[in-house]
Amino acid sequence: MRSSATKFGYRRLGRILSAATALLITVGCQGERVQSSLHPGGPAAEAIARLWWVLLGVLGSYTLAVFVLAGIAIFRRPPSPTHRQPDPQEGQRFILIGGAILPALILVPTLAYTVHTTTSLRMRETGLTIRIVGHRWWWEVSYPEHAVEIANELVIPAGEPVRIELASADVIHSFWVPQLHGKMDLVPGKVNAFWLQAERPGIYRGQCAEYCGQQHALMAFVVKVLEPAEFVQWLRHNQQEFIEPTAAGTDPPHGLQLFLQHGCGVCHQIRRTEAQGQIGPDLTLLAERHTLAAGTLANHPDNLLRWLSDPQSIKPGANMPATAASRAELRQIVDYLLDRPSSTPHTGDERDRR
Ligand code: CUA
Repeated sequence: MRSSATKFGYRRLGRILSAATALLITVGCQGERVQSSLHPGGPAAEAIARLWWVLLGVLGSYTLAVFVLAGIAIFRRPPSPTHRQPDPQEGQRFILIGGAILPALILVPTLAYTVHTTTSLRMRETGLTIRIVGHRWWWEVSYPEHAVEIANELVIPAGEPVRIELASADVIHSFWVPQLHGKMDLVPGKVNAFWLQAERPGIYRGQCAEYCGQQHALMAFVVKVLEPAEFVQWLRHNQQEFIEPTAAGTDPPHGLQLFLQHGCGVCHQIRRTEAQGQIGPDLTLLAERHTLAAGTLANHPDNLLRWLSDPQSIKPGANMPATAASRAELRQIVDYLLDRPSSTPHTGDERDRR
């Protein structure tokens, strides 16, 4: 009677455990791959993912073996009173093999492989530098060699390493694009550098990976990877001297006038206009960005309208105040900001991949 009850208990436990494992596997592997370090999109992330799988395999098997041996020791039948006592030397040998030799055989090669992976991630020769400054809670992105500025979005060419220089304007942030590389901190008063490389064009999501305050979770960004020729074109078109200035003698667009009237230009810059603020994100290329408010909202006119009229309800604590303009005025500002000419218009394909 008791044994059948125990058997039933074990069976139920087994069923619960396998259901939980299946759930974990499906939850872990399904869904968006855009921010998964297990779906690498470049050589650095690939090396990191390989190391992860090797460590999981080796250390997982070792842990399993320990559990099996412990299970055997616990559940085997107790020795009969006539059983001979174990030889103390045999015990010592067992401790030496199990406690020193076996762990060394496992840990030394995994350490060597870890060091090998780490050295393979050393700085590479690059032809392009992107400077990133972390702010609470957005990313300032500039191409110092090309006079291009954008925010919360990096545009890079496929197939080549890009030097990334990281600094912070306030607290420590951490730059992480799981599909392209490991994390690197942005530390106030210091410039850290590493490299990013993506093999294929596409959209990769990044996220601040160091708790930096109330809106840490809403401090995301996008890495947009273009074919090299397309990238060269993008870079050229967005350089300062190629941006269409408001023609001399003509009135600036009505949306821009309202933008300036309501004081937006005090914090934000739109290159080649009177708006030259340096506190908030540069809005010159806002029209081509994928998201608003550092990955908080999809870049859509209705979302921008919501953001301008009441940013604190969307991102409490952010430095962006509500814009004291009428709904009709806000609509004109939105139209101006999102209609600005952009060299790389969105394609439906890109939006889908996001
Ligand atoms: Cu910036 Cu967390």
